[in-house]
Amino acid sequence: MLLVGSCRAAQDTLADQMSTIERLAHQAWWPTKPANPNDKYVGSAVCAECHKDIAAAQRESEMARTLLPVDHSKAADYVGKSITVDGFSYDFIEEDKTLAFRLRGATGSKPLTWAFGSGAISQVYMTAGDHSFNESHFSYFEPIHGFDVTPAQPNLRVPMRADGAGAASKSAEGRTVSMQEVRRCFSCHAANVPAEAPITGFIPGVTCETCHGPGANHAAAARAELPQSGALILNPARLRPVDRVDFCGACHATSTDVQLGGGVGRPTVRFPAYRLENSACWSNDARIQCTGCHDPHRPLSHDTAAYDQRCLSCHVTGANTKADADHPGRACPKSTQGCTGCHMPKYDFPDVHHRFTDHQIRIVKPGEPVPA
Ligand code: HEC
Ligand code: HEC
Ligand code: HEC
Ligand code: HEC
Ligand code: HEC
Ligand code: HEC
Ligand code: HEC
Repeated sequence: MLLVGSCRAAQDTLADQMSTIERLAHQAWWPTKPANPNDKYVGSAVCAECHKDIAAAQRESEMARTLLPVDHSKAADYVGKSITVDGFSYDFIEEDKTLAFRLRGATGSKPLTWAFGSGAISQVYMTAGDHSFNESHFSYFEPIHGFDVTPAQPNLRVPMRADGAGAASKSAEGRTVSMQEVRRCFSCHAANVPAEAPITGFIPGVTCETCHGPGANHAAAARAELPQSGALILNPARLRPVDRVDFCGACHATSTDVQLGGGVGRPTVRFPAYRLENSACWSNDARIQCTGCHDPHRPLSHDTAAYDQRCLSCHVTGANTKADADHPGRACPKSTQGCTGCHMPKYDFPDVHHRFTDHQIRIVKPGEPVPA
């Protein structure tokens, strides 16, 4: 592994990076850990009693809304309407007070239960079953304000018939997702997900306890004003800086996860930890960890200017200013603002209709291929 940074201590820590599987085996709490019966979750409303401001901000974030009951999803706006995707027509209907879809030309309908994805980028719909789930063939995509084929599902490309119906096909209703796989979906999109079937009692969304772990003991101790209450909940700020990146990587993939998966090149742009750790800025320094640029309790900022101060916490400005220990980054000869616009380019992923941000901060040469 190529390590950046000359400081001995930093290298020791960087070498400690782990895969998420190792983390789950080593840490008392780590995000995505399956719930066991002794865990006591309380839900965000209880955390909000004492952490009012954090709770109010976090509720509005994309992460908090990444798993929604379908009646709160984008699909709810389409009841009584039809969509055409991949040559198939679907009618959104309400049946027994439940949102469902009917594939034209097929018999019966599919009731929808959960929407995965906030819709900030995309959203897919699940039909719950006893032994498996059905993932809809169509997904909602915010950039096109409409529906298209769900990423990673095959394009069936059945031509539309004159009566508006595509030929009925099992795959046009969606993909069968095993309980084992769907449990993994829930473990990254919810809290308190049981290790064994059935998948019930979970807390939807990436909210307080999805990241901080079960909080009943902390809440009770804080209520009793016990001095050790803080020790009963994980504060990721207390992790070593590089471990904090692995913490976000529990769901966004750690650098080690991506390397074990054999990822190289352009597809890895979707994995911010791997890309960031390949950049010249990367070191064991809190300013270049995920939380150096993103507040996990707030919605993502799309304002380029908002990131400038993050870059300039390390980079000096002005032709004659030299980098030093506090500001290890050199000055840019081209500009003093709008840093991410030039050094963190966005790449199109057509299957999700979205341009993902390359976290491999670098000097981008025109026409150069995306580096590994
Ligand atoms: C009754 C009030 C109360 C409730 C309910 C509560 N907290 Fe706290 N929380 C506190 C107080 C007080 C502190 C500061 C403790 C300290 O510094 O020793 C704290 C500290 C924390 C910390 C930082 C711990 C540290 O050592 O730095 C985290 C993280 C946290 N709370 C998360 C949560 C979450 C998640 C929930 C809901 C599961 C929650 N809290 C519910 C009062 C509460
Ligand atoms: C339990 C899993 C989980 C953990 C842990 C996690 N995330 Fe996320 N994150 C998600 C999911 C799921 C989404 C997709 C949100 C959506 O549906 O739009 C997401 C989306 C995001 C987004 C993009 C929001 C948008 O508008 O596209 C950012 C930024 C982000 N996470 C940062 C972080 C940071 C920083 C950390 C660590 C402090 C972190 N995440 C930890 C699951 C997680
Ligand atoms: C290892 C954790 C993990 C698992 C397992 C997982 N997701 Fe996600 N999911 C994420 C993260 C992180 C994001 C946001 C980052 C991104 O979009 O690349 C996300 C985003 C999404 C989005 C929004 C689109 C988007 O790109 O932001 C949808 C829809 C989604 N996931 C559905 C699913 C479904 C369905 C499954 C199971 C088949 C699943 N996810 C399994 C972590 C996970
Ligand atoms: C995506 C993961 C994630 C979610 C969701 C999340 N937190 Fe945090 N939380 C963090 C991280 C990371 C830190 C450390 C921030 C830092 O490094 O400064 C933190 C820090 C804290 C702290 C310590 C005080 C502080 O501001 O540093 C409190 C209290 C807290 N969170 C409460 C909550 C509550 C309450 C919720 C739900 C409303 C919540 N968190 C949801 C990741 C998360
Ligand atoms: C933790 C401090 C830190 C932060 C935060 C940081 N950098 Fe850096 N960056 C460095 C160091 C150290 C280097 C290597 C020395 C140099 O080239 O100045 C570097 C190198 C670079 C390079 C040269 C890369 C190359 O291949 O030669 C660019 C461009 C750059 N940073 C841009 C940015 C931008 C843009 C941001 C904000 C989005 C940023 N940096 C945030 C520390 C940081
Ligand atoms: C140096 C600043 C910086 C750091 C550090 C950083 N990000 Fe980002 N991140 C950005 C910028 C800038 C965007 C694009 C915001 C926009 O324009 O929408 C972004 C976007 C994202 C998105 C939205 C999807 C996309 O690609 O546009 C996710 C998810 C994300 N970051 C996760 C992470 C995670 C996880 C980490 C830690 C491994 C991290 N980021 C570290 C600056 C940073
Ligand atoms: C308009 C695009 C643009 C913007 C905006 C921009 N840069 Fe640059 N930057 C460049 C280019 C192009 C180079 C390479 C210049 C060269 O090699 O002559 C560069 C070079 C650098 C370098 C390497 C310097 C060296 O001595 O090799 C750093 C560090 C850097 N930029 C940081 C930043 C930071 C921090 C910001 C925001 C304050 C920023 N850049 C804004 C285009 C930009």
